[in-house]
Amino acid sequence: GGVTTIDPGYKNTGSCESGITFLDGEKGILRYRGYSIEELAEKADFLEVAYLLIFGELPTTEQLDTFHSDIKKHAVVDDDVKKILDAFPKTAHPMGVLSSLTSALTAFNPTSVNVDSEEEMYNAIVRILGKFPVLVAWTMRKVKGLPLDYGDSSLGYVENILKMMFKQPNEEYTQNPILVNALDKLLILHADHEQNCSTSTVRIVGSSHAGLFASLSAGISALWGPLHGGANQAVLEMLEAIKEDGGDTKKYMGKAKDKEDPFRLMGFGHRVYKNFDPRAKIIKVAADEVLGDLGIEDPILEIAKGLEQEALNDDYFVKRKLYPNVDFYSGIIYRGMGIPTEMFTVMFALGRLPGWISQWREMRLRKEPIGRPRQVYVGENHRPFVDINKR
Ligand code: CMC
Repeated sequence: GGVTTIDPGYKNTGSCESGITFLDGEKGILRYRGYSIEELAEKADFLEVAYLLIFGELPTTEQLDTFHSDIKKHAVVDDDVKKILDAFPKTAHPMGVLSSLTSALTAFNPTSVNVDSEEEMYNAIVRILGKFPVLVAWTMRKVKGLPLDYGDSSLGYVENILKMMFKQPNEEYTQNPILVNALDKLLILHADHEQNCSTSTVRIVGSSHAGLFASLSAGISALWGPLHGGANQAVLEMLEAIKEDGGDTKKYMGKAKDKEDPFRLMGFGHRVYKNFDPRAKIIKVAADEVLGDLGIEDPILEIAKGLEQEALNDDYFVKRKLYPNVDFYSGIIYRGMGIPTEMFTVMFALGRLPGWISQWREMRLRKEPIGRPRQVYVGENHRPFVDINKR
């Protein structure tokens, strides 16, 4: 017998038990392993949060040092990966490049494919945590037309990412603590969000026992879409368009409410939050701080604030409980940092990496069965075959 009911978009279907991230969408609460997102964003750094998500506890100094040094050992990629990167046109979208390169890593790290024991999982995890930032930085350098650069193992995890992204040829690189802080915070805020589209993808691909890198590559593809991680790029493009249009926010509010118009207010609404997205609150304050500290006055920030005010006071948005989400202000910070718009979703992927890894590891350790939903068949009944010359 087949199933008789369906739940499109799995709006009310639990796919697993999980001990990683707690989310209360009515109250706007988000916790990783029991710790509030507000406190983690304020007091922890990204690598500590990655450890917490993956292994369940905040690391001691010694545990964190060992983790970091294991990761650093793998912060290189095979030279042939450079050739694959070279073969992409410069106009390729960085998310497509990133998912391809992540998948390609499988070929160069065959021992990371069939992982069953905790030790094999650990080795695959530190490998990808080492290599992924290199791929991220290189996709950006390709967009910017800069020669590829390896990091510096004496630097912190996030400092090293910034150096790999921004180091100019023939120039000393100096760390800007404002950028380090801002990126650390953004990555922490993006690090996990329970069973969202990309995470569910990672778990379901991994449930067939495809390897970690293949599962992550699928997750990156899922994140790419504008209804999910791609919203941060779409928000900035929308704000730019409004600016070009003379700052006419009312017109875009009208379009968003018009059911005949496919336009949606990007960066607004969420499947689970029916209240403020706690990440958006933190990011809004950070956007003000970072732009202030960097001495940047971006008219886009004013447009975003204006749009938010209008939406929060508009019946359509109030009735549907549509609030700004994590993607609404993050792009403004990335832009202030000098990151190109088409790279924004790659930055989201960089932040989400520990979340995907922890969810994949939990799924494997719990020995979850292969993910295989059912359907309600609504096609043709049995019918006789018709010969090609009689159709
Ligand atoms: N602008 C205008 N109307 C909206 C919006 C929006 N951004 N979001 C939802 N609605 C309306 C929607 O038309 C529907 O109206 P009605 O009940 O009259 O048919 C109602 O609100 C409920 O929306 P839904 O599409 O049924 O809700 P969903 O849970 O399927 O979709 C969402 C959630 C995030 C995909 C959606 O709100 C959306 O498309 N937002 C814009 C894209 C975006 O910002 N995505 C980022 C999500 S947060 C982090 C991440 O995943 O990256």
